[in-house]
Amino acid sequence: RERKRKEGVNLLELAASFFRERLKMPEGEAARAYLDKRGLSPEVVRDFGIGFAPAQWEAMRRHLGERGISEAVQIEYGLLVHREDSGRTYDRFRDRVMFPIRDIRGRTVAFGGRVLGDAKPKYLNSPETPVFHKGRELYGLYEARQANARLDRVVIVEGYMDVVALAQFGIRNAVATLGTATTEDHLSRLFRVVDEVVFCFDGDRAGRQAADRALRTALPMMIDGRQARFLFLPEGEDPDTLVRREGADAFEDRVTCASPLSEFLFELAAQGRDLARIEERERYASQVLEAIGLLPEGMLKSLLLTELSRRTGVDQSSFESLMARHASPES
Ligand code: UTP
Ligand code: MN
Ligand code: MN
Ligand code: MN
Ligand code: MN
Repeated sequence: RERKRKEGVNLLELAASFFRERLKMPEGEAARAYLDKRGLSPEVVRDFGIGFAPAQWEAMRRHLGERGISEAVQIEYGLLVHREDSGRTYDRFRDRVMFPIRDIRGRTVAFGGRVLGDAKPKYLNSPETPVFHKGRELYGLYEARQANARLDRVVIVEGYMDVVALAQFGIRNAVATLGTATTEDHLSRLFRVVDEVVFCFDGDRAGRQAADRALRTALPMMIDGRQARFLFLPEGEDPDTLVRREGADAFEDRVTCASPLSEFLFELAAQGRDLARIEERERYASQVLEAIGLLPEGMLKSLLLTELSRRTGVDQSSFESLMARHASPES
């Protein structure tokens, strides 16, 4: 299995350097112009190993074939696509700006490729392969660790461009999930290397839904001084557009002011509710209680129960017995 991993990673390193070389060649002109238009300097492009997949059907296949790599292996690691219906085999990534996705040790395990224009899909990612599982890898984590002698916290953003744009502005601690919600796997990987994560969400409905999911994922993991905070961006902005508009200091201020989990829990449950009404207060209390129930036993849990009791005026022991009833499924 380890041999397999080495084989795959070598192949993907070859592919990554192929993409980097192509970006520098005359055929990479439009891609270089695109990166420049997005405000990315050659230094950041280099730090993230960004490249270009030429607009050809078999450039990669030929490049790797000449180096003795079979088509079967190229297909297995997602560089070639084989269509059963037509029997055709061709390069997966064509005419795209290429972002290598590196694991925590810096080995390229997959790619994301962005079109230069408005074609769909905007981003094409490597499929699941023996070395790549979307729900586990975090884009930018390796680069963040490289850039910081001591990494205390990471900001979790949505996209490749958000990570790279923040780095361009000197904010070198952003990571992105790869078009999926943050999973338990993501968080346990992060908490192995930092104590604090800041979730950064778009200020739209999808963003608020994502926040609710992220909260549920994070709650059971809140042990041993780990911290999670929650940041909402203004409607219609992502970290890339925002840092360009407001600058790095303003973005850092937003991160610093992000709601700690202990407050966010209450804010989220209060959203859209008229707490002057008893029925709404009941739903509010139930939602907060359910969230608290997901926390591991400990000080934080007790403190939050006390806080819920303070905010609702309901005796804490009532909440405790309610929670005990929820916890034992047969009652
Ligand atoms: P966004 O559409 O917000 O991407 O999707 P973005 O990074 O802001 O893109 P730019 O600024 O237009 O370049 C967020 C993330 O969702 C995944 C990618 O990981 C992307 O970075 N995604 C999005 C896909 O995998 N495929 C898509 O077609 C679109
Ligand atoms: Mn697997
Ligand atoms: Mn959005
Ligand atoms: Mn975006
Ligand atoms: Mn964007």
